[in-house]
Amino acid sequence: MFLSDKWRSYELIDAEGGERLERWGEYILIRPDPQVIWHGERKNPLWNHPHGVYRRQGGGGSWTVNRMPESWCVAYPSVVGELTFRLRPMGFKHTGLFPEQAANWDWAAGLIRGAVEAGREAPRVLNLFAYTGGATVASAKAGASLVHVDASKGMTNAARENMQLSGLENAPCRYIVDDCMKFVEREIRRGNRYDAIIMDPPSYGRGPKGELWKLEDMADGLIRTAVKLLSDEPLFFLVNSYTTGLSPAVMQYLLLTALPEQLRSRAETEVGETCLPVTETCLPHPSGASVRVTFR
Ligand SMILES: C[S@@+](CC[C@H](N)C(=O)[O-])C[C@H]1O[C@@H](n2cnc3c(N)ncnc32)[C@H](O)[C@@H]1O
Repeated sequence: MFLSDKWRSYELIDAEGGERLERWGEYILIRPDPQVIWHGERKNPLWNHPHGVYRRQGGGGSWTVNRMPESWCVAYPSVVGELTFRLRPMGFKHTGLFPEQAANWDWAAGLIRGAVEAGREAPRVLNLFAYTGGATVASAKAGASLVHVDASKGMTNAARENMQLSGLENAPCRYIVDDCMKFVEREIRRGNRYDAIIMDPPSYGRGPKGELWKLEDMADGLIRTAVKLLSDEPLFFLVNSYTTGLSPAVMQYLLLTALPEQLRSRAETEVGETCLPVTETCLPHPSGASVRVTFR
């Protein structure tokens, strides 16, 4: 299990009846969560005093309670220093951050920092489906040179701002608004290579020109193509999935069978669920599945 338990300005207070009760900085939010299939008592009084509530309605949803500011910031004390992120109440219950990914940010940043301290030139990291840049900011803080790819211009601008807020405006990072599969194929043709790849795809998405992304149908093809971008001395490959049903072992199988033999024989794998601690129950809340591969 990969537990993101270092947060101070985020807290998963409780999870019950299909919803999470969370603290984001000073603000209390209630958001839907399909993993929360259990029902219990809502003992914590904060359930009755949220600043924001997102409720699903048919295929969509909206913030039915909104006493939040337009935006505010939270900080994460990562292994490579403090990272700062701007939050905004957005569509599809988003706030602009996936706090459960913090354990993966620390893992990636630790490996990058280790390589830099061992005298390696800034490792080249490719972050696919990079969203508002959680992994980008952590990797840049650790000393990586990055390519950040996402279909959404808005999310990419938010990532730029998070880099600035974290003091990384001059860090080597190219921001690309593109379809991940198209970008990866183009990079192979250009002969570019990366020392590390981070991939956190949604279950369903669209590229900037409407290119369809469906995890179950397309993850295998993208991973098989992306491994061709690994350098001769790669550091790691990290894949995360939020889709209910894609277990950590499935992700591991996909990634290990995609690796060419000379890399597979050097691969060391860790798989697990990405979790957040729930304050009320002291239990880990499952939020996704990750496979982490490092190379000897
Ligand atoms: C689940 S989020 C990633 C979470 C992020 N890695 C984090 O930890 O904060 C999914 C992102 O994938 C992007 N996306 C969806 N389909 C895409 C595609 N075909 N090509 C590129 N990006 C895509 C969306 O714009 C969104 O920002």
